[in-house]
Amino acid sequence: MKKLVFAGLLGTIMLSGAMYPMVAQADEASDNAAVENRKMLMDGIGGAMGTLGCYMKGECNLPDPVLANLAKGIAFAAGAAPAAFEPQTPDASVKTTSSADIWANWDDFAGRFPELETAALALADAVGDKGAMGAAMGNLGKNCKACHDEYRTK
Ligand code: HEC
Repeated sequence: MKKLVFAGLLGTIMLSGAMYPMVAQADEASDNAAVENRKMLMDGIGGAMGTLGCYMKGECNLPDPVLANLAKGIAFAAGAAPAAFEPQTPDASVKTTSSADIWANWDDFAGRFPELETAALALADAVGDKGAMGAAMGNLGKNCKACHDEYRTK
């Protein structure tokens, strides 16, 4: 839908050179929105991981269904991640740590999210057995680190 509106806008602009500066603005605004969207998605994953970590350390007492839902939230976000990362954002002015390698190696990058999803669902399954949860958390955390090492700039 947004793309349709944008295509319409482009058509108008082609007829009116005076409106050209608006194109740049529209690109910046939509690129910034795409960056904020993927950062929020990652922050949701990070928040869930932090809460699960708090439980694992014995600092947060949480009921099993809550723990399972946190893990399932990560799995859901992993499923939504490829679409959130797909738009390239060359005109973004907000801070992003996404490396250009993401789009140069899109299949490798996007292919890591199904693995993240599987690891998160394994964690949800392990709820009720803290030892098994620890192993599943470790495995999940490896997925985060491997991708961040490869595809985030400092
Ligand atoms: C397939 C790659 C990939 C995986 C797997 C991944 N991330 Fe990320 N993550 C990224 C990228 C790329 C960014 C940078 C987003 C940006 O700034 O545009 C990011 C950013 C973040 C951020 C910072 C968001 C912000 O507001 O700047 C957090 C927190 C985060 N990830 C947590 C996690 C956790 C926790 C996991 C594992 C459970 C994880 N990520 C798994 C690619 C990944």
